[in-house]
Amino acid sequence: MSSTTLTDTLARPLRDLRISVTDRCNFRCSYCMPSGVFGRDYQFLARSEVLTFEEIERLARLFIGAGVEKIRITGGEPLLRRDLEKLIAALDAIPGLRDLTMTTNASTLAAKAPALAEAGLRRVTVSLDSLDDEIFRSMNDADFPVARALEAIDVAADAGLTPVKINMVVKRGVNDAGVAAMARRFHGTGHIVRFIEFMDVGSTNGWRIEDVVPAQEIVNAIDAEMPLEPIEAKYPGEVARRYRYRDGGGEIGVISSVTQPFCGLCTRARLSAEGKLYTCLFAAEGLDLRAPLRGGYPDDEISELIAGAWRGRTDRYSELRTAETTQLPKIEMSRMGG
Ligand code: GTP
Ligand code: 5AD
Ligand code: SF4
Ligand code: SF4
Repeated sequence: MSSTTLTDTLARPLRDLRISVTDRCNFRCSYCMPSGVFGRDYQFLARSEVLTFEEIERLARLFIGAGVEKIRITGGEPLLRRDLEKLIAALDAIPGLRDLTMTTNASTLAAKAPALAEAGLRRVTVSLDSLDDEIFRSMNDADFPVARALEAIDVAADAGLTPVKINMVVKRGVNDAGVAAMARRFHGTGHIVRFIEFMDVGSTNGWRIEDVVPAQEIVNAIDAEMPLEPIEAKYPGEVARRYRYRDGGGEIGVISSVTQPFCGLCTRARLSAEGKLYTCLFAAEGLDLRAPLRGGYPDDEISELIAGAWRGRTDRYSELRTAETTQLPKIEMSRMGG
């Protein structure tokens, strides 16, 4: 552990690492991997380009040494990576980690949840954009039914991966009519739904401001049926703004990157499947850590690369978003990690 806290140019410490273990996914959500772009000819990373579990574990140790306390496994769809529980076990064994979680589309979670929990995964976040089977199938563009996502959520909860969080990306005119129904479905279950404003990540999802439903509108729609009150963030820099039901039925969150950005306390770094370090979700460039890893650099030199990137960090994209910035080339979220 370093004795002084590593901070960036805006005095933000490095606390979270989001690790993408694959750039592939079996869904084609239009806001993330539209099928027109991610078709049969799309060039995904070759196996040799993707970090091995040993390489990920080594980097994770160095990031934890630099201040990281929480790791989230993402993709693409992380459960497409074979034997993922082995990586979970290796990460869980690193001293200093306070939270180890994963974001998944749940397509294969029901079969894997017990082994993941056994390996040391503490909790899980599941993407679920609608309870209406037709809308959900159309949004995932993989004909994946709602019933199986709901079953996976139950299995994950039974396996102890709690609290289960449910991510719903809200798009105007697509699934926004289902916001209150989603809240109602999980009210009183202990699961936490987070409603996410559609974001201009990557360069292929056809983002338009007209398609964004502001978080306040989402909160109002739920509050009208089930009264809410705001509650404190769980930790500084929490992505979601939290609300609890006044009747004691639990809590929800809204993630308002567009209408109420939260860059001021952003402590998140992302490691892509190919071993690049990104200091913002909207970055166009990352720092290659794979070449030094494979080039035999010792730990302290790789740690210095990580520290140097964080010290020089100026990112606050969501606070600076304009009509122009939304057109800039950016790395796809499926590659960088969600
Ligand atoms: P908890 O640890 O459960 O609080 O989750 P989290 O806050 O890490 O949230 P999660 O990983 O589930 O993120 C939910 C969604 O928020 C992501 O899929 C992104 O869409 C968005 N998001 C997460 N981190 C950032 C960020 O740093 N910037 C922006 N703009 N959006 C983010
Ligand atoms: N806007 C908002 N959230 C997105 N996600 C992916 N693409 C977008 C986008 N354009 C989120 C989804 C999913 C997670 C992996 O990333 O919530 O659960
Ligand atoms: Fe796959 Fe998740 Fe992207 Fe949907 S949001 S295409 S499930 S990585
Ligand atoms: Fe952090 Fe970039 Fe998201 Fe702002 S836009 S919260 S700096 S990842």
